[in-house]
Amino acid sequence: MGKETSNTVRIRKATVKDVPYIYQIGTLCFSDAWLENTICDDLEKPHSEYFIVEIQNIIVGYSCFWYILDEAQLVNIGVHPDYRRKGIGELLLKEGIAEAIKKKMKTLFLEVRVTNLPAQALYRKYGLKVVSLRKNVYSSPMEDGYIMTCKL
Ligand SMILES: CC(C)(COP(=O)(O)OP(=O)(O)OC[C@H]1O[C@@H](n2cnc3c(N)ncnc32)[C@H](O)[C@@H]1OP(=O)(O)O)[C@@H](O)C(=O)NCCC(=O)NCCS
Repeated sequence: MGKETSNTVRIRKATVKDVPYIYQIGTLCFSDAWLENTICDDLEKPHSEYFIVEIQNIIVGYSCFWYILDEAQLVNIGVHPDYRRKGIGELLLKEGIAEAIKKKMKTLFLEVRVTNLPAQALYRKYGLKVVSLRKNVYSSPMEDGYIMTCKL
């Protein structure tokens, strides 16, 4: 079911068995990472889809998208620090967008910390633009968030 992008890099939809690995990467990526139970509950919701990237069977990144009505939301995306700047974030974003198009979603939106320049650069590369600012929406540390969106 997964897609081979080279001999060793593979992207596929996640299952409950992958949750401990998703959780571990989350803790390396986010100060307010979701707990395993939260991820597990979310993964089983019908509107939610998780993708993971494996390199030689080691999970090195994941993303979570919600597909609701005609709107896709990128809820989380994280790549293990040792594997960044190798195109994995891009692969995860592209896969979620492809799935959104398949599901006939009209727009993609997400929220990102105003200081998170690497993620914003990734999103801009795929045509997402800042459309609004949410004050103090993040905690640990408290910070504003941009809403970014694009048409699909
Ligand atoms: C954001 C994140 C997912 C990017 O993953 P990645 O695998 O390193 O990204 P990629 O290698 O696919 O990079 C794709 C593009 O993103 C941008 N980018 C990624 N990291 C960047 C950085 N440190 N500085 C500037 N641009 C960056 C670039 O435009 C890059 O394209 P390029 O290589 O042609 O310049 C990763 O940094 C991460 O996990 N961060 C912590 C979690 C996080 O902040 N998630 C987003 C929450 S909203």
